[in-house]
Amino acid sequence: MNIKGASVLVTGGASGLGAATARRLKEEGAQVVILDLPSSDGEAVAAEMGTTFAPADVTDPDSVNAALDAAEAIAPLRALVHCAGRGGAVRLVDRDGNPGSLEDYEGVVRTNLIGTFNVLRLAAARMAKNEDLDGERGVCVLTASVAAWEGQIGQIPYASAKAGIVGMTLVAARDLASKHIRVTTIAPGLFDTPILARLPEKVRDSLSASVPHPSRLGQAGEYASLAHHIIENQMLNGETIRLDGAIRMAPR
Ligand SMILES: NC(=O)c1ccc[n+]([C@@H]2O[C@H](COP(=O)([O-])OP(=O)(O)OC[C@H]3O[C@@H](n4cnc5c(N)ncnc54)[C@H](O)[C@@H]3O)[C@@H](O)[C@H]2O)c1
Repeated sequence: MNIKGASVLVTGGASGLGAATARRLKEEGAQVVILDLPSSDGEAVAAEMGTTFAPADVTDPDSVNAALDAAEAIAPLRALVHCAGRGGAVRLVDRDGNPGSLEDYEGVVRTNLIGTFNVLRLAAARMAKNEDLDGERGVCVLTASVAAWEGQIGQIPYASAKAGIVGMTLVAARDLASKHIRVTTIAPGLFDTPILARLPEKVRDSLSASVPHPSRLGQAGEYASLAHHIIENQMLNGETIRLDGAIRMAPR
């Protein structure tokens, strides 16, 4: 898909992997709309990049539809890169012997998994109405995590949600094939974004050392580069790609 002049929606675009992707796709000539929470830095980030900010919660159909309206007002929506997500620890049995919080579990699954389904379905419905461009109408890039396969202790809601995203990738690609829309997922390992930037230097060093090769944290630009490649490469469809320097996370 050639995105020059087309609209692209980047969720979670105010920070980390999403912000790097928004910047990269803007450089490639796309009309980028950044969707992120009203409380995020989206307004300032979009102003600095010369793009549009659409405040929205990915789990809320009305605000996501308003963001899609903003994108389509500029140009047909040809690509979605869905990066919005969050962590949140839950143990099955807590320190005091009580069962883990159902509410906390549900909250993390809601943002990461239900939010992904919500954005994907609403964006795909818009793309399905596009004219074919070189044989396709749109491309959707989702974001899982290596925790989908090797969730660490405490990551049970996050790992469940990310495994759900891996699980939906092929069926979504099959579902949207007749509409000429591709769906591919990136599963990042350890990336140097604001989540990890907050950790002490010692912890960051030990995390870097746990990556076989290259033995460092991933850069957000490396995620952005793969997202752009997926958008351009028509044969990438229905697959989840690990982007992780061969890391396999330990239990803790
Ligand atoms: N950084 C890593 O090492 C890493 C590893 C594996 C997976 N991931 C995944 O990559 C994605 C991006 O992570 P990041 O490191 O850039 O994180 P980040 O915290 O820098 O950015 C995430 C963005 O999502 C937004 N967001 C959160 N909940 C939202 C909601 N309900 N509606 C709209 N926006 C919402 C936040 O405001 C934030 O701007 C996430 O899905 C994360 O799970 C990151």
